[in-house]
Amino acid sequence: MTIIHISAECYPIAKVGGLADVVGALPKYQNKEGVTSQVIMPFYNNTFTKENSFSTIYESKIDLGNQDFEFRILVLNEKPLDFEVFFVDVPDLVFKDYVYSMDDTDRFLAFQIAALDWLLTLDKKPDIIHCHDHHTGLIPFMLQESYKYEVFRKTPNILTIHNAQYQGWFSHEKVGLIPPFNFDHVGLLDWGGSINPLAAGIKCAWRVTTVSPSYMNELQQAANGLESLLSAESAKCSGILNGIDWSVWNPETDTYLEKNYSIETVASGAAANKKYLCETFNLDSNKPLFAFIGRLVDEKGSDLFPEVFKNALQKNNLNILLLGSGVPFVESQLEALKKDFVGTYNAFIGYNEKLSHIIYAGADFLLMPSRVEPCGLNQLYALRYGTIPIVRSIGGLKDTVIDISEENGFGISHLNVTVPEINDAMDRGIVLYQDQTKYKKLRKDIMKIDHSWDVSAQEYLNLYKSIKTD
Ligand code: ADP
Ligand code: GLC
Repeated sequence: MTIIHISAECYPIAKVGGLADVVGALPKYQNKEGVTSQVIMPFYNNTFTKENSFSTIYESKIDLGNQDFEFRILVLNEKPLDFEVFFVDVPDLVFKDYVYSMDDTDRFLAFQIAALDWLLTLDKKPDIIHCHDHHTGLIPFMLQESYKYEVFRKTPNILTIHNAQYQGWFSHEKVGLIPPFNFDHVGLLDWGGSINPLAAGIKCAWRVTTVSPSYMNELQQAANGLESLLSAESAKCSGILNGIDWSVWNPETDTYLEKNYSIETVASGAAANKKYLCETFNLDSNKPLFAFIGRLVDEKGSDLFPEVFKNALQKNNLNILLLGSGVPFVESQLEALKKDFVGTYNAFIGYNEKLSHIIYAGADFLLMPSRVEPCGLNQLYALRYGTIPIVRSIGGLKDTVIDISEENGFGISHLNVTVPEINDAMDRGIVLYQDQTKYKKLRKDIMKIDHSWDVSAQEYLNLYKSIKTD
């Protein structure tokens, strides 16, 4: 069986968030199960593409409305990854030094059309076309409706929703950019008066998955306008929990860490990483370290951080370190807080892969007060590195973190995203930290929890195999 994943991100090539981690790991684990799993993604002007060399395996032009664009399919000359990656290079549209921006409609349409045009030319076509998020949401529609892709009508396609908040809406004025199709079916593209690639994908994909069972249920009540569609399509929808790549996220071998450690040596190993963080960010290593890593957007509850942090820091019994970027107003408030709490608070506004790994290793608690969290990978990395997650009980967080008050509990969870509830959860963290015997035992216990991709990769394979093609 050959599976092709079509995605805007893939670690370590281009990463904005968890989508990259998933697409950079799932094919690797699927290949271990004896299938051929590959990725096709855009060719960006980024560090990875500058540092590697590529060969062209196919060249052609795509029509985008009444304009045409040259495109090439590239492959890596060396093979540093455990799966094959094909790059779609559309020099005039896609090759930018960013993944997402304001020009996404034309860029991702060009990417999707070029990818399918190339797949059309293959002698051995994929058995499964697996699309990820709205950037590839028009593919199920085009496979079903565009005349030129008729040969794919019997090829099953899957759409995985990593985040239904983002849907890729654009105006019907741009419908001419989509390769010709039976216009009687234009309604399949529409949701609420615009072309909605995520909605079109949900309507046309053979199966729809999302990245945790709880998020799948929640989507029928809250999906940024797509609730009724997801309820109507629920028979073909399922939730498959994300895993993590154990070979990348392993405190024993992680080359980003100041000091590697195992379950047996976590006390000294985590302390060495904490010491590095405290020295680098001028924090107090005698106090517990609470951290946040992620996008500073409302979904993550980050608009409440300035107030939450101020309340917590005033008690002078903890440190807070934040790594992230996002809404400029939140960024500037978080920067401004630095001068009020010198010695116990710091923030790195930006993206830094290495620092994120050291924080997972060196922090004592990881905060995730998300309003929406389809799966969340940060809490899984925290567990693997022996850092206690403090989460809002929703989506994948609900499926992966059990509160310490419950049987076999190991994390701290709260029900609502409010300043008092987040502060209260942090206070519970302080109480736990004061009981060092319990805290140290928990730290070892959580490192044993197995969230590697083995189980979930198999679940995807079972899903593909369950699809009847005639
Ligand atoms: P989302 O995809 O919604 O942003 P996830 O929890 O699924 O959330 O995944 C986020 C991924 O991005 C994790 O690998 C996390 O470590 C990483 N990440 C997020 N923000 C940053 C940042 N500022 N610097 C480094 N890594 C980050
Ligand atoms: C999205 C979600 C996140 C999930 C990730 C990978 O970005 O916001 O919760 O973990 O995709 O599936």
